[in-house]
Amino acid sequence: MKLSKTALLALTTLLLVGGAAMVIAMTMGLPRQDPYVQAVLTLRGDSKRGKVIFENNCSACHGQLGKGEVGPNLEGVASRRTDEVLIHQVVSGKTPPMPRFELSDQQMADLLGHMKKL
Ligand code: HEC
Repeated sequence: MKLSKTALLALTTLLLVGGAAMVIAMTMGLPRQDPYVQAVLTLRGDSKRGKVIFENNCSACHGQLGKGEVGPNLEGVASRRTDEVLIHQVVSGKTPPMPRFELSDQQMADLLGHMKKL
C-alpha cells in the first residue's frame, strides 16, 4: 500500500498529539487514579498510630499539635482538602521545603486518620 503524503502527515500528527497527551497525564499524577492512593483509601487508619507517625515526621514543621511552625497550621485541614490531596501532599514532595515521605499503605492510612482529627 502506498500512503499519500497528506495521510502520512496526518498519521504522524496524530501519534505526536497522542503521545504528548499521555506524557501530560502521567506527569500530572492524577491522584484519584493512583494505585497507592487507592490502596490507602481501602484501609482503616488507626489515628493513634498516625499520631506517633506525625510526631516523628511532621511535628518539627507543623508543631506537635499541628498548629503550625515552619509549615502551615493543619487544624481542620481534612475539611478543606480531600483525602486524595492530603495523601498526595505527603508523598509527592511537590511543595518544598516539605519533603517527600515514603510511607507504607497502612502508615499513610494511619496518618490520614490522625490528620482528620487535627
Ligand atoms: C520541612 C518541614 C516540613 C515537614 C517535615 C512536613 N511539612 Fe507539611 N508542609 C510544610 C510546608 C512549608 C507546607 C506548605 C507548602 C506549600 O503549600 O507551599 C506544608 C504543607 C502541608 C500540608 C498542606 C496544608 C494545606 O493547607 O493544604 C499538609 C496536609 C501537610 N503539610 C502535612 C504534613 C505531614 C502529614 C507531614 C509529615 C508526614 C509533613 N507535612 C511534614 C513543611 C513541612
